[in-house]
Amino acid sequence: MKFGYFDDLNREYVITRPDTPLPWMNYLGCQSYFGIISNTAGGYSFYRDARLRRLTRYRYNNVPLDLGGRYIYLRDDESMEFWSPSWQPTRHELKDYTCRHGMGYTVIGSSYSGIEAHTRYFVPLDENLEIWQVTVTNRRSTKATISGFASIEFCLWDAQDDATNFQRNFNTGQVEVEDGVIYHKTEYRERRNHFAYFATSEPGVGFDTQRESFLGRYRGWDKPATVEAGQLTNSIAHGWSPVGAHQVKLELEPGETRQVVFVLGYHENPVDEKFDPPGSQTINKKTVKPVIARYLDRKEADAAFERLRLHWDGLLGIFQVSTPDVHTNRMVNIWNAYQCMATFNMSRSASFYESGIGRGLGFRDSNQDLLGFVHMAPARARERILDLAATQLPTGGAYHQYQPLTKRGNNDIGSGFNDDPLWLIVGVAAYLKETGDWSILDEPVPYDNESGSEQPLYDHLQRSLQYTLDRLGPHGLPLIGRADWNDCLNLNCFSDTPGQSFQTTTNKDGKVAESVFIAALFVHAGRELAGIAKHRGLEAEASRYIGETEKNLAVIAEHGWDGEWFLRAYDDFGAKIGSKECEEGKIFIESNGFCVLAGIGLEDGKAAKAMESTRKHLATKHGIVVQQPAYSRYYLNLGEISSYPPGYKENAGIFCHVNPWVMIGETRLGHGDEAHDYYSRINPSAREQISDLHRCEPYVYAQMIAGKDAPTFGEAKNSWLTGTAAWNYYAIVQWILGIRTSLDGLEIAPVIPKSWPGFTATRVFRGVVYKISIERKGEGNQIALTVDGAPIEGSIVSPPVDGRKEVLVKGILS
Ligand code: GLC
Ligand code: GLC
Repeated sequence: MKFGYFDDLNREYVITRPDTPLPWMNYLGCQSYFGIISNTAGGYSFYRDARLRRLTRYRYNNVPLDLGGRYIYLRDDESMEFWSPSWQPTRHELKDYTCRHGMGYTVIGSSYSGIEAHTRYFVPLDENLEIWQVTVTNRRSTKATISGFASIEFCLWDAQDDATNFQRNFNTGQVEVEDGVIYHKTEYRERRNHFAYFATSEPGVGFDTQRESFLGRYRGWDKPATVEAGQLTNSIAHGWSPVGAHQVKLELEPGETRQVVFVLGYHENPVDEKFDPPGSQTINKKTVKPVIARYLDRKEADAAFERLRLHWDGLLGIFQVSTPDVHTNRMVNIWNAYQCMATFNMSRSASFYESGIGRGLGFRDSNQDLLGFVHMAPARARERILDLAATQLPTGGAYHQYQPLTKRGNNDIGSGFNDDPLWLIVGVAAYLKETGDWSILDEPVPYDNESGSEQPLYDHLQRSLQYTLDRLGPHGLPLIGRADWNDCLNLNCFSDTPGQSFQTTTNKDGKVAESVFIAALFVHAGRELAGIAKHRGLEAEASRYIGETEKNLAVIAEHGWDGEWFLRAYDDFGAKIGSKECEEGKIFIESNGFCVLAGIGLEDGKAAKAMESTRKHLATKHGIVVQQPAYSRYYLNLGEISSYPPGYKENAGIFCHVNPWVMIGETRLGHGDEAHDYYSRINPSAREQISDLHRCEPYVYAQMIAGKDAPTFGEAKNSWLTGTAAWNYYAIVQWILGIRTSLDGLEIAPVIPKSWPGFTATRVFRGVVYKISIERKGEGNQIALTVDGAPIEGSIVSPPVDGRKEVLVKGILS
């Protein structure tokens, strides 16, 4: 069952009924001002940091679901009926409801008793504000008198404090209302120099800023007393809960259309120019007023929308493909690329599942996210890399997370996740391959943000590798620390006390438990760094790294192979995890996927065997589960992984993040059919038909789909902010379609399904447009390339030496 359809031409998903299984979200903003918005206008906005600068309130895990939003009410002033064109919060029966989620904007509308209304929400580029364009049309044969209300509830900035510290917060709320603009200025009197504002293009006939006045006592957003009565009360909030509500009057002749623009924004003043007149307590509005005036103008709003559209044309135009599979095309050309940008912007902070107050930017997560967006935003990738590296510790270790606003490592979680530093090498390698910007390696970057400790970025990469070498366990495999990629495999925690953190409680000295996964990652990262060193002419160093990876390979062969698949780890007792000897958790996806991705075991048949075992034991029709059999009880020596009921999350759920490792592994074995089949099993567009089971948005990946041990097998959770976005993008684009960045140029080595006659693609790479067409003549993966008609050796197309800006690449697969 579906709840809408894809409109690929307009790059939109069109939702046709409001009661989707879960709120289906979109993101507004792509620079500093952001919002999440659901298909019924739920969600919230923030400036840079979803915790510390939250503009509006949202009620997580509320009943009814998804409350707190950018709500419009219309009231027929004759019949006195009122409704919300976005369905929530009134949940009135509507006609022709649609929600169009597009690239950085959402349009929600419907009609009711002959009044049609659509609201377009978006954030203009380079501005810290959002625009709501509400278009109302009278489809009746008679004149209509309509009151329009727009409302939001302000958050008192720090979302954590806002949701907990009521004894203080009920006293601090302050607003100003001037020339019909509502200014939210809680705490502006003291240490803040920022405020929010909410304005309307029409002369208002009323406003409210005190929640109780707007809603009425014991009322909810579904039935505000003022809307029911048809008149706002011009209340001024003193403490309690400031809101912003505007009322406008629309007299509409039959067939007449009017548009009202609302602007919600964030503004900062220089600290010594906060007040006007100086010495007063009144906000200085000199610099904000022109901004407000500009965007309340409909033409300016339309022009800003056009700029946003062009922005996305540009970003998505960097890679476009046309294959025989509509789901591949749609995800690669539109939604997966879009999700990669959202994941880059948000990391794991703000979604329907991430409350915006929990996590900072993950070190490993952010480095992996680079794989998906670096081609669209290389300059921002560069900045992200340098920020991440600056939180690295002198030991080469890394804070597990850092806070986006301060860019400091997060002390609550600390470090000791032993895979973290290696991902920095993976991220930097992806950046170098994309951009060829070698200067980044010489960039001075501090350790732990200590000024004076600056070393070239390259030194950080060297220490990342050394960090693993300094932490080898009894078998010579890397020690796992608090956890490796699988945050929930906590082999040193041994937690038996409720409420303890599985990840940071440490009851063991960490000198025994080892990870085969980190060993595989080390091989991969070691080879990447060797490639980089070689490119810089550091031959001896490159060989040293290769030597180290070879040592690791030998250890993996001796202590990391279980006979039919790769082992996962050794626990604190030195016992195997992910072995046929285990009672549960006999085989894991991470070590098998990543070993084969890294090319381990290609020569001696282990890779093929590992992929075969993965298919046999872990693959399901909804994707590949983390491990089998699922843990049926809590294991003190394994930690959080066994805390989840079987089939969910890391306990044998389908973690979509790691499925691509197996897809890539299959391509390394030349198995295009298998790789694409795995790709399709979790491709959200390919799952659209089962939206009632899948439940999450059909246009973006979710972190997890419940595994076969779960009663809700096939149900997705935690959509949008997941490493899944980048890894799937990377797997399909760089390994299945095989259009792969390398230090030397663009490599073209597709491993596509046998049934595909070929495909075409356009790739903008280092300033050159590559028009690529691949034709299949035989069933294999042997590629013969011509560049502008001339045959070339091998599979790497070097950048044109003669300054050509467009080249034609033809590939024949046989
Ligand atoms: C979450 C974390 C990520 C981790 C994964 C597996 O996605 O953000 O860092 O690797 O879970 O536990
Ligand atoms: C929880 C989640 C895991 C995530 C981690 C982040 O353990 O289950 O997926 O990686 O939190 O800290």
